[in-house]
Amino acid sequence: MPKLTVTTREGETSEIDVADGLTVMEAIRDNGFDELLALCGGCCSCATCHVHIDRAFTDKLPEMSEDEDDLLESTDHRQPTSRLSCQIPFTAELDGLKVTIAPED
Ligand code: FES
Repeated sequence: MPKLTVTTREGETSEIDVADGLTVMEAIRDNGFDELLALCGGCCSCATCHVHIDRAFTDKLPEMSEDEDDLLESTDHRQPTSRLSCQIPFTAELDGLKVTIAPED
């Protein structure tokens, strides 16, 4: 199964297996990382699934929509590597992806 490495706000890193068909947000949430609130459930309307992506993978991600860009713009912790994790389907190509949960706004 493809692997995703998640670093929490406290700096703890864990590797998780990701089942087919999940988004990065769903994979993180379903593995018990409560600090990723994902309040809107993946509708791209809350920005509480904000993560920072390892630079090595930024080229492999789907392009950002205007809505995602606008929401990220409303957060205090946007970086060039910021993405909303609900907008990233976890494909086999992303095996080994590393993400860090962004600080809370
Ligand atoms: S879960 Fe709300 S924008 Fe991603």
